[in-house]
Amino acid sequence: MYKPSTLLPKKVLILGASSAIAVATARKLAATGASFHLVGRSEAKLLAIACDLETRGAGAVSIHIMNLDYTPAHGEMLEIAVKRLGHIDFALIAHGVLGDQQKAQADYDRAERILLTNFLSPVSLSTWLANYFEGREAGSLGVISSVAGDRGRKSNYIYGTSKGALNIFLDGLRNRVDRRGVQVLTIRPGFVATPMTAHLKQGPLFAHPNQIADGILHAVAFRKDIVYLPPIWRPIMFLIRSIPESIFKRMNM
Ligand SMILES: NC(=O)c1ccc[n+]([C@@H]2O[C@H](COP(=O)([O-])OP(=O)(O)OC[C@H]3O[C@@H](n4cnc5c(N)ncnc54)[C@H](OP(=O)(O)O)[C@@H]3O)[C@@H](O)[C@H]2O)c1
Repeated sequence: MYKPSTLLPKKVLILGASSAIAVATARKLAATGASFHLVGRSEAKLLAIACDLETRGAGAVSIHIMNLDYTPAHGEMLEIAVKRLGHIDFALIAHGVLGDQQKAQADYDRAERILLTNFLSPVSLSTWLANYFEGREAGSLGVISSVAGDRGRKSNYIYGTSKGALNIFLDGLRNRVDRRGVQVLTIRPGFVATPMTAHLKQGPLFAHPNQIADGILHAVAFRKDIVYLPPIWRPIMFLIRSIPESIFKRMNM
């Protein structure tokens, strides 16, 4: 049976801690007394989140302000995180940008910036963290990818590429470190009602961040590998991937 207080991590690092999905996840962990190190680029947002988590029962909460696109500073930032927490049980990589597909398909510099934030930055962080967890022969790395990475579509293939490439990287990383006691969890949400999607018309497939947070924590507790959230997205994406390319290329998706 699922007993959150016994199966859930106690020392938690969150990269992109102002993400609505990350905040929902952190709140649930705070209620079990977890301690946090929060990393993000807005001091005002992180201070407010830290205060909120403490009110909800968190242990110690520390913050670190940085733009996670700056990969050369990742190592130093992560060493500080370990010092603040003592050790890390669970690291959640949550930052990301949707980007503007129309602009990115016309201008490579914009495409590159999306790939940097959504792919290269998580690759840099995951590399350091997986090596850290491997040294401890313990730990869980959760990375928020997307169902958009399952198949390229004309309406968002730059974002989709960043997440699809990330999925393949995480598959390989898991294959390397699983036998060393390290969990690598690929989190593939569908549509979630957060600031990232606030400009989109919300249909019945939109989930609340709390639903995604529950799914993430369940997957961490049971050491899952790849989780579609909500789970209905697994059969949906199976169907979408099954459409022959000769038909798919003429569809408007
Ligand atoms: N919402 C969806 O429908 C959906 C679906 C599938 C996957 N996802 C993924 O879920 C993750 C979380 O997104 P969300 O839905 O929770 O949206 P969100 O609330 O808009 O969160 C995005 C977060 O990314 C942070 N961020 C962006 N670029 C950054 C950078 N260079 N350095 C540091 N932080 C940066 C933002 O920081 P600021 O607060 O400073 O702007 C914000 O905290 C993303 O990886 C996203 O791709 C979302």
